[in-house]
Amino acid sequence: MATKIRRIGILTAGGDSPGLNAAIRGVGKTALGYYGMEIVGFRDGFRGLVENRKVNLDGAALSGILTLGGTILGTSRDKPHRMVINGQTKDMTGVIRENLLKWGIDCVVCLGGGGTQKNALRLHRAGINVITLPKTIDNDVAMTDATFGYATALGIAAEAIDRLHSTAHSHHRIIVAEIMGHRAGWLTLGAGLAGGADVILIPEIPYNVKRIAEAIGQRSKRGSNFSIVAVAEGAMSKDDARIFECAEKKLARAKTLNGKLEAKREIAALEVRHQGNTLRLAQQLEQLTHLESRVTILGYVQRGGTPCAADRMLATRLGSACADLIDKRCFGVMVAARGDGTEPVPLDQVAGKLKLVPRDHSWVIAARRVGTCLGD
Ligand code: F6P
Repeated sequence: MATKIRRIGILTAGGDSPGLNAAIRGVGKTALGYYGMEIVGFRDGFRGLVENRKVNLDGAALSGILTLGGTILGTSRDKPHRMVINGQTKDMTGVIRENLLKWGIDCVVCLGGGGTQKNALRLHRAGINVITLPKTIDNDVAMTDATFGYATALGIAAEAIDRLHSTAHSHHRIIVAEIMGHRAGWLTLGAGLAGGADVILIPEIPYNVKRIAEAIGQRSKRGSNFSIVAVAEGAMSKDDARIFECAEKKLARAKTLNGKLEAKREIAALEVRHQGNTLRLAQQLEQLTHLESRVTILGYVQRGGTPCAADRMLATRLGSACADLIDKRCFGVMVAARGDGTEPVPLDQVAGKLKLVPRDHSWVIAARRVGTCLGD
C-alpha cells in the first residue's frame, strides 16, 4: 500500500496576483482539516526551498487570508536550475531535493504562471513530488479554462476604461490605456469589450496604425470626437511583429549555444525597444488624427488588492482539489479548471505552452460585430 502523505510544502512563484492567498487557504485547510496533513509554507518562491525560508501554516496562519491581496508567502522569479547564489548562477535542483528529504516534505505545491509550470516540471523530472495551480492575471496558462487573478484584474482594467471615457469625452481626446498581459491579449480584449473601448489592440492581432487613425476619424465624422484605445503591453504593429517573428524563428533554428545566445540577445534588445511602444502609438495617432492624445499605463494596479468573488471561488476550489490529488499521490500535474470541475493535467502538456487568443475567438468576433476596431 502506498504510504500516506504527511507533510506538504507550498510556495508562490512569479508575479503575484489576486487569489493566491485564497488558494493557499484552499489547499491548506483541506490538507490540514480534511486529510490531517501538516503544511509548511516556503517564502519567496523557489528560493525558499534553497534557503530554508520555512513558515508553519497552521489553522491560525490560514485563517483570515481569503480576501487578502498579494501573497502571505512572498514571491520571486527565481528559477531552481539557474539561481543566483552569492553572485554566482547555480543549478540548485539537487540542493532542493536533499532539503525536502531532510525536512520530511513529501510534496511541494507550486502556485504560479507559465514560468512556474516549467520550473515545477524540471523538479518533477528530478524526482521531486510536485503539483501546481494556475495563477496569473494574464490568463495565458495552457490546458486550463481559467487562471485565478484574471477575473480581478479584468474588473480593475474595465473600471479604468469606464473612468477614462468621461475625461476623454470632456476633452475630445484620444486616451490610450496600456493593459498588462505579457504576450497574451486576454486581459485587454476582455477589459476592452467590457469597458466599450473603441479600439482594442492585442499581441495576437498585429495592427496598422493608419487603420486605427481611420477608425478614429470615422468616429469623429459621426460626432464622437474622442476615443478610447485599449492596448495590450505586448501588442505591436505588423512591421514590428514580423521583426519579432524572424528573431524567434532564428532562436528556434539555432543549433549551437552561441547561436542561441545571440538570438536571445536579439529578442531582448527588441523587447527593450518595445517598452515605449504605447507612447509612440499615442504620438502617431495624434499626428494622424489631429486629436490630442494621452496615455494611461495601468501597470501594477491591475495586480493589487483584494481578489474578486470569482477569483476567490476559483482559487478555493482548485486549492481544495489539489489537496485531494495529493492524498491520491497524483504528482507531476497542474490542477486545471474544467467547467465547474477540475482536472489534473500532466505538466509536460502545460510547461512551455502559452494560451493565446485565437483570431477567431468569440470575443474577437463580438468585438468586431459591435464596431470595435482591432487595428488590422
Ligand atoms: O504575468 C503577470 C505580469 O503582470 C504580466 O502581465 C507582466 O508582463 C509581468 O507580470 C510584469 O512582471 P514584473 O512583475 O516582473 O514586472
